[in-house]
Amino acid sequence: MTTAAARKQRIEFGDFQTPDALAVAVCRRLHDLGICPDVVIEPTCGVGAFVEAAAQFFPTAKQILGFEVNNDYLEISHARLQGELASGRVRLAQADFFATRWQSILEVLTGSLLVLGNFPWVTNSVQSGIGGDNLPRKANFQCHNGLDAIMGKANFDISEWMLLEVFRWLEGRQGDVAMLVKTAVARKVLAHAQRQGLAIASSCIIKIDAKKAFDVSVDACLLIVRFNSALPATDEYQVFDSLEATQGQRVGHRMGVSIASLDAFDANIALVGQSPEKWRSGVKHDAAAVMELTRHGQLLQNGYGETVDIESDYLYPLMKGSDIGNGKGWRKKYLLVTQRYVGESTDSIRTRTPKTWAYLQKHADILGARASSIYVKNPPFSVFGVGAYSFRPWRIAICGLYKSLDFRLITPLEGKPVMFDDTVYYLSFDNEMAAQQVFTLLHSYEAKDLLSSLIFWDEKRPVKASILNMLDWSRLHTAKESPQQGQLSLGVCA
Ligand SMILES: C[S@@+](CC[C@H](N)C(=O)[O-])C[C@H]1O[C@@H](n2cnc3c(N)ncnc32)[C@H](O)[C@@H]1O
Repeated sequence: MTTAAARKQRIEFGDFQTPDALAVAVCRRLHDLGICPDVVIEPTCGVGAFVEAAAQFFPTAKQILGFEVNNDYLEISHARLQGELASGRVRLAQADFFATRWQSILEVLTGSLLVLGNFPWVTNSVQSGIGGDNLPRKANFQCHNGLDAIMGKANFDISEWMLLEVFRWLEGRQGDVAMLVKTAVARKVLAHAQRQGLAIASSCIIKIDAKKAFDVSVDACLLIVRFNSALPATDEYQVFDSLEATQGQRVGHRMGVSIASLDAFDANIALVGQSPEKWRSGVKHDAAAVMELTRHGQLLQNGYGETVDIESDYLYPLMKGSDIGNGKGWRKKYLLVTQRYVGESTDSIRTRTPKTWAYLQKHADILGARASSIYVKNPPFSVFGVGAYSFRPWRIAICGLYKSLDFRLITPLEGKPVMFDDTVYYLSFDNEMAAQQVFTLLHSYEAKDLLSSLIFWDEKRPVKASILNMLDWSRLHTAKESPQQGQLSLGVCA
């Protein structure tokens, strides 16, 4: 096989074998949790790290069954597991997960089940990008809500699909699932299980170091889900920082919202409400090379390197999400803001500022070709994310893409309010004092604790407007002014 073909196969089959030490650590943790299965199934067992570790840690398991699509890997597993295979306790078979009739295998198995392993970490869009077809086949899941829904998505992880299939195996049985997965996938399947009302007695996410184990930079975890229809179902789960950690964070749902730390959320519930000022996102324009300009000395330049000579009326200082997130200062960037509110006619630019109009006309093709349908229904050269709030001079800003709750107080520059791109969320104020007061409140321990309890830091855009808008900072203010009436302990600090 050529190197390219081997690489394609590795991606298509999500072929990252679990190091033996990690498989052992996982099984030790399962054993310590009191998991004591009668039957273990490793559905994509690769070279057998989990099968071997299971044989060691679950001595009372009567059967340990390993399945794998790749025959070369099965041969390696056979070689390492000779003793166990001879005793008949371990059995290995070649099987394609998506083509196997699992129900006929499961119906002859009695006792509690442990489904253990590490499914391929690959998405359907990566599969189609490389021409791979290691995917679920439609005929195998029709009429199953969850799986149908996943297949309808433009991009899904095949491990998400496989996990939901495994959850189906456990319906009406007692047993556990323990699988190494991307943390985002773990959260999705837990949310799905909750929506479906599955009989989950407990579950947890234990973070693992994927860089160390698999040399991939992705947030990954061991997901453990315990099924027992005799116990009341729960939608709470715990998150542990490592396989050795014994203290976890309670995660779950409140008021229809996913909560990253129930303890912190409950402790600060008095602050949950509606932000007195709505958090807004920055300006959306989809044409950075035309609309964003940089000052070099006396000259303005656009993203095509052209010198731009236009009036200053529609130009505003611009700070990008990276400037806000990295704590940088203003880099002499400007944004052409053609409207004061969404849908405003842009005709007046022609007479008011002819040079700006000529510049926009020059680039009308680019601005007219912006892909989003919102531009089609609006005046030429439109922007979005503008309203009266955009033109108040003082701001408190945060970038949604950064993994920290660092609010920045942004002063007006050159006598104008600073604009942001649409990765930034901000509040705006008419004067410095109002902005300073809220800035102080947002830095209080309670405000940060509540917001952190709502944020899943491993998400691509962890800080969201919907989260920021849940903090009613006026309650901190009120409680601070009248401590005798307030229910909150404050300790507000700058
Ligand atoms: C991430 S590796 C993990 C292997 C093993 N579970 C472990 O933990 O070391 C994924 C494995 O799934 C196998 N695999 C991929 N697609 C499969 C399929 N459709 N059916 C069965 N096995 C599959 C791959 O060959 C690979 O060995």
